[in-house]
Order: sequence, then structure tokens, then C-alpha cells
Amino acid sequence: MSSTLGTSSRILARGGSLRVARSFLSHSYTGYRIPLTGSHGRNYASAAHVHQDSKTHSDPSETSKSADFVREYEPYCLTTYARPGLILSHGKGCHIWDVEGQKYLDFTAGIAVNALGHGDEELAKIYYEQSLKMIHTSNLYYNEWTGPLCKLLIERTLATKGMQSASRVFIANSGTEANEAALKFARKYGKLSPGGAQDKYEVVSFYNSFHGRTMGSLSATPNPKYQKPFGPMVPGFKYATYNDIDGLDIITKNTCAVIIEPIQGEGGVNFATPEFMTAVRKKCDQVDAVLIFDEIQSGLGRSGYLWAHEAFPAEAQPDILTMAKALGNGIPIGAAMVSERIAEAIKIGDHGTTFGGNPLATRVAHYVVDKLSTPTFLDQVKHKGEIFRSGLERLKEKYASVITEIRGTGLIWGIQLNRDPNPIVDAARLRGLLVITAGNNTVRIVPPLVVTEQEILEGIEILNSAFASL
Ligand SMILES: Cc1ncc(COP(=O)(O)O)c(C=O)c1O
Repeated sequence: MSSTLGTSSRILARGGSLRVARSFLSHSYTGYRIPLTGSHGRNYASAAHVHQDSKTHSDPSETSKSADFVREYEPYCLTTYARPGLILSHGKGCHIWDVEGQKYLDFTAGIAVNALGHGDEELAKIYYEQSLKMIHTSNLYYNEWTGPLCKLLIERTLATKGMQSASRVFIANSGTEANEAALKFARKYGKLSPGGAQDKYEVVSFYNSFHGRTMGSLSATPNPKYQKPFGPMVPGFKYATYNDIDGLDIITKNTCAVIIEPIQGEGGVNFATPEFMTAVRKKCDQVDAVLIFDEIQSGLGRSGYLWAHEAFPAEAQPDILTMAKALGNGIPIGAAMVSERIAEAIKIGDHGTTFGGNPLATRVAHYVVDKLSTPTFLDQVKHKGEIFRSGLERLKEKYASVITEIRGTGLIWGIQLNRDPNPIVDAARLRGLLVITAGNNTVRIVPPLVVTEQEILEGIEILNSAFASL
């Protein structure tokens, strides 16, 4: 097994990627057979349906060291994820290696997290230096990096066409915590709103959204798969249909917040229309509700703009903007950016966190935001997005019987299928490309923002091979 895997990774390392890019839509790989022996539950049998011909990689067999590892340690881990059996060990740029030595092109970026790719040396230096200096102090004292990060986020946001009311930032540890903070701030604001008092606590969110797994964010995520096992949800959450202006009457004087993703990532890479967002803003203004944009996935350069909502008219801006994922390039951190109107409602002691804003995470995030927000960097993301667009459109033409729509911008793309997308995700992995699903019929592509043109072409060729194997 290990010699087979070694051979496949050596072939890729020796220029397989160049060969692949040149032969778009016509290349056929040397095949490597997966010994799908035994049945280690879903892990080792998951890709059995994939056509064998063009595979270059294999999921670990029952006798591999990966399987031994999983067998030894999985019994101690609470099982909340279904995973293929590969164990990822290290990465560089847009590539990841597993412990068997197989090299993968990573179009997942840890679910839109590793914007600067893997193994960024400058980030590692900063991390090392700050770890020696100080990792954590608590929020009982100032530190040298929370303030500079908040200032940078506000300055870089004000330099865009995005949230022009951006005034202050609360630093948390994750996306869901950023949203919890936003929801709490909105509830407090609602209580202080003239005529608000006790009844103004409702929150409106949208079908197919994803806002996180803690109880507030989960209550704003109307997906029965995530909510049902944990009901009842927090009182006051109501749901409307994305892009349906007529459905906005659900926003009333009892609404304290509307939370929405400008691009629904998890829900299928769906885009809010400018008209809809303008109507949502207008409705919020009419009833004095706080408008929260969840840019945890779409923000920080992924759309080709610092914020995806820059695509909307100036009159469709949020009162609170939440972010996480790319903010720390993998170091856990999230944030809620608020307007001064919201900030005035929040007093000392209203909200807090032990870890949020520690100097290690905030120093790393300062470095990341500085890099991601430069116009040259963002222009490159836009340009690379166009390469994706044309490559994916060509795939759509070729596989018209399977691919129903291509949606995307910058480096967030969805390939909508007329069927379950998991076989394509499996087939791509067995050809050395990691992609993920979104919704129940879409293949999602969210590579590191430092992906090269060559890597994009290589990835599209692998997708071509994956579709051909269906
Ligand atoms: C739009 C959006 N909001 C919130 C979250 C939750 O973030 P986290 O997993 O960091 O809690 C996610 C994660 O996928 C997301 O995509």
C-alpha cells in the first residue's frame, strides 16, 4: 500500500500538475487501485462507488498506518463528524500531505479559513515570537495587540465601499461566538429602542443560512438537521426566504435583529440580490431593527473584495458585521464590528470572554488582515475568480446532464448538480483534490486566496476527471 501511495505522490511532485493543466478535458491518469478490503464503517468504504480508471490517490486501506491510527484513537473521540480515513499531516501553500505521503491540492482551505495557505513563514515567525512574549493575559488588562487589530479592521473597512458606520470591534474566538455577541448586542439595543422594551427581542434569519452551532446562532440557523436534536430553540427566532422581498413583512416592530449572509456559504453558495438587501435594510430602518451581516465565510477577501457586501448599494449596509474563519488563518478568532449607535447600547460588563482578544490571536490576525486587505491582493483574487469562472463554465457545458448551475465570485464557487454532490467530492479526493459540499446538491470550492493560476487549472482538470468518472 505505502509503495503505491509513494509512487502516486512522486508522480504529482515530478510535474504531474503541469501535464494536467495542459491537457484540460482530455487527459487520462495512470490508475492506482484502491484495495477496499474490510469494512471499517463509513471511513474505509465511503468511496467504493467511484469509477477506478483515473484515480491517482487512494483512501487508506484497512492495513495502512492511517487505519491503525484511527483504530487506536477514534474510540476516545466523540464522533460528531463523518470523515474519509486519511490523516492530514502538513501543508505548504495550497497543498496538503497525508501521513501516507499523498499530496493533495486543497480547495477547501479548512472551510474558507487558510486564506494565506498553509505554512506561511512570516505568520509562523510572528506566532513563535508572540508565544514567547505573551500568549494570554485575560481581558482584565490591556494588551499590545487587541487595540491595533480593532483599529486596523475599522480603518481598512472604512477605506472600502462597505460598512461606513464601522466604529468599534468586539473580539471573540470563533464564528458562532461572533454571532452570539452580535445577537446579544442587538437584543440589548432592542430593549433600549424607543417603544422597544420587553417585546422587541425577535430575530429574523433566512432559510439555508448557517450562523453556527451555539444556541443563539443555532436558533438563527433554520436547518432541521442541526436544530431538531437540540430543541427547543431560543425564543423569538423567525425565518424568512432568502431573496424574497415579499416575505420581509415578518420583520415587525418586535424585531430587534435581522441576521443574513451576503453570500450563503454552507447553504449552497447563494447570493443575495442588491434589491433584496436594500429592501431588508429599509425594513430594518422602518422598525428600528439591527441589521447583522454574517461575513464569517464571505468576508476578508474571499469575494475579491474585503467584504462581500461591498457589492451592494451604499444604502444596504449593516449595523453589525461578523467575521471569523480567515481572520486568524486557522488561529481561532472571531469578531463583531459595530456602528457607534450599537456601541452606545453596550456597557461595561454586558459581554465578555476569557480567551477572546488574546495577544497571540490578535497579533496573528493583525498580520492576516494587513495582507488580505491590500488592493493588489484583492485584485488578484478577482482575477483568479475569472479563471475559475471560465473553467467551471466549460465543465458545465461538458457535463450539462449533471451540472445545473455555476455560482461564484472571487474564490468562493458552487457547482450545483442535479444530484448528491458527495460522489464528486470523493472522486476528486481520489484524484488528489480536496473540495467540499454545500447545501444538498452543490460542490463548494473555497481555496486559499493565495492559490495560483496553475493550481486553479490543475484543480479544474481534476474536477473534469472526477465528473468523467461518474
Ligand atoms: C456564515 C457562517 N457563519 C457562522 C459560522 C460558524 O463559525 P464557527 O464554525 O467558527 O463557529 C460559519 C461556519 O461555517 C459560517 O460559514
